[in-house]
Amino acid sequence: MINFCGIQMKNPVVIASSPLTSKLKYLVAADQAGAAAVSTKLTFIRQPFYGKLRMHTSDRLGSLICYDRRLDLEEGVGLIREAKERTQLKIFANMTHDQADMEGWAVLAKALEEAGADAIEANLICPNIGLSTKSIGGQDSLSGNEQGGAVNGQNPERVREIVRLIKDTVKIPVVAKLTPNVTDISVIAAAAKAGGADGVCVAGGQSALPPVDIHADGKPCYRLMNGVSHGSLGGPACRFMSYSQVAQIRQKVGIPLIGGGGLETADQALGMMMWGADLVTVCTSVMWYGWEVVEKMVAGMETYLQEEHIDYAAIVGRSLPHLRSSSRLEALPGHPVIDPGRCIGCGRCSKPGHCDAIEMLGKTPVVAPEKCLGCGICEGVCPTGALTMQQV
Ligand SMILES: Cc1cc2nc3c(=O)[nH]c(=O)nc-3n(C[C@H](O)[C@H](O)[C@H](O)COP(=O)(O)O)c2cc1C
Repeated sequence: MINFCGIQMKNPVVIASSPLTSKLKYLVAADQAGAAAVSTKLTFIRQPFYGKLRMHTSDRLGSLICYDRRLDLEEGVGLIREAKERTQLKIFANMTHDQADMEGWAVLAKALEEAGADAIEANLICPNIGLSTKSIGGQDSLSGNEQGGAVNGQNPERVREIVRLIKDTVKIPVVAKLTPNVTDISVIAAAAKAGGADGVCVAGGQSALPPVDIHADGKPCYRLMNGVSHGSLGGPACRFMSYSQVAQIRQKVGIPLIGGGGLETADQALGMMMWGADLVTVCTSVMWYGWEVVEKMVAGMETYLQEEHIDYAAIVGRSLPHLRSSSRLEALPGHPVIDPGRCIGCGRCSKPGHCDAIEMLGKTPVVAPEKCLGCGICEGVCPTGALTMQQV
């Protein structure tokens, strides 16, 4: 069992707020797949416009979301009530208020707590309700006063104020889900802590634009959509950035932490915890590959703990002692070594433009160790794992 801000969780896996958490049948699927918790779909008192799910997906990079259908308060309340009756899940209620008044935050938090939520997750991340307008330097939104999500999350004073109000309203823990679209996320995390947040969540959401069709007047490559707004990035492209942000918050702010963004496997989730996350979130990988991602992730994490004879608490922050400033790093000597049994002679290791250390003799790569710069790109691009960088 994991104790996260007083919430007892059977494992650290949380399904992130998204279409995956917008309907009871998906919450039941999350429960059956072994997730310990869900963050329910973003709930407003009344959503500013009724978006339909529209996104661009590139399987190697990630998904970019312009639009999604959110929940009005009565839908959010109904979903949480049903989920508490029908599942064992812990429920984080993801909510935002898009108006300038503060009272709405309290109305939402109170109603979601009464519905049975185990925690409030203040959405200070969504770029689709205000940041998309701010990013084009204009005021062309339908409502004209979109203030929700990341616009709040970019302003430390506003973050502190919102969290403080919610904390004063409810008894359940309050988590602030932070936007990465800031200069220093630890400043925002510190503001949330100053407001009394029990925890913070970092999970992708970089403001992003899709590719364009260069043969069709630069039209953005969105399906079933006219126009495009700065959207929210999820999936593999987020992962390394999230590792960095999680580590920064853990070290500099020291607050219970949920980390996500691009997690697809147990190893990656364990890595997020080693960089400092107490819990991990999953979204895009389940949208791409289905609920078995969760089954495999939970099983893989538990197997690792059994094999290592440790518990989850023992791995949180384990990688942090390795962190130092770049001037204090020590570069070790070494070069690539090729396993001829696995090499298929494709020649990719010989291609890097800055490198003279590998040449192809026919189908055989030949390494000149003294010429190796040590970058390790050859290992990264080898399709069969035939090549490893080895220290000498
Ligand atoms: C279609 C879609 C809808 C999302 N809706 C929400 C939302 O309502 N509230 C929220 O906080 N995050 C939302 N997110 C962001 C995810 O919760 C998650 O933080 C992000 O996608 C990064 O994690 P991932 O790489 O595992 O997808 C959404 C993501 C996707 C793909």
